[in-house]
Amino acid sequence: MKLLTLSGVLLSAVLTTNIAIAADDTKTPETTEATTETTEATTETTETVSGKEVYQTYCIACHVSEGMPTIAPPIFAVKNHVTAEYPEREDFVKRVTEWVKAPNADDVLMPGAVRKFGLMPAMPQLSDEQAVAVAEFLFDSDMELPDWYAEHYEEEHGEKPKAQ
Ligand code: HEC
Repeated sequence: MKLLTLSGVLLSAVLTTNIAIAADDTKTPETTEATTETTEATTETTETVSGKEVYQTYCIACHVSEGMPTIAPPIFAVKNHVTAEYPEREDFVKRVTEWVKAPNADDVLMPGAVRKFGLMPAMPQLSDEQAVAVAEFLFDSDMELPDWYAEHYEEEHGEKPKAQ
């Protein structure tokens, strides 16, 4: 009888331990998830890119706003043409993001500029984050209007250009 009780105690001890382990098991995934979230948050913070910096590093050399353009249309004109076709921020950003990574000769918004300067070279070296950041920067910032451009625009459109 004593032996039976003892094995009963042992058995329940084993059971309790198992339950404790099981309970631990259920906890583990939560802990892992929390850790992953923290890591993701950290990655996002480190990867935050400034659209202005991307613009100054990768775009301004061609899309200059001073003097007469020799390589590419000034950024004011670019923004003007893209907003005319894609007035919503989301559509504008999508268009510019896709464009910088792979300009498509069959879908150009500035055919005159393509004839004059050739198609813009693709910039696959930009990360997705950089492409989005520069597109958002273009949409959100006032672009400089070159002096000569107002005249050119008026000739083309019969009205003065609005600030973009
Ligand atoms: C090597 C010169 C060069 C560089 C660098 C360059 N572009 Fe361009 N880009 C052009 C030329 C030329 C055109 C006009 C012809 C065309 O549309 O392909 C153009 C046109 C564009 C257009 C209008 C395209 C359309 O039809 O929708 C956008 C938007 C644009 N560029 C954005 C950018 C951005 C943003 C950057 C920087 C990440 C950049 N470009 C860098 C030469 C350049």
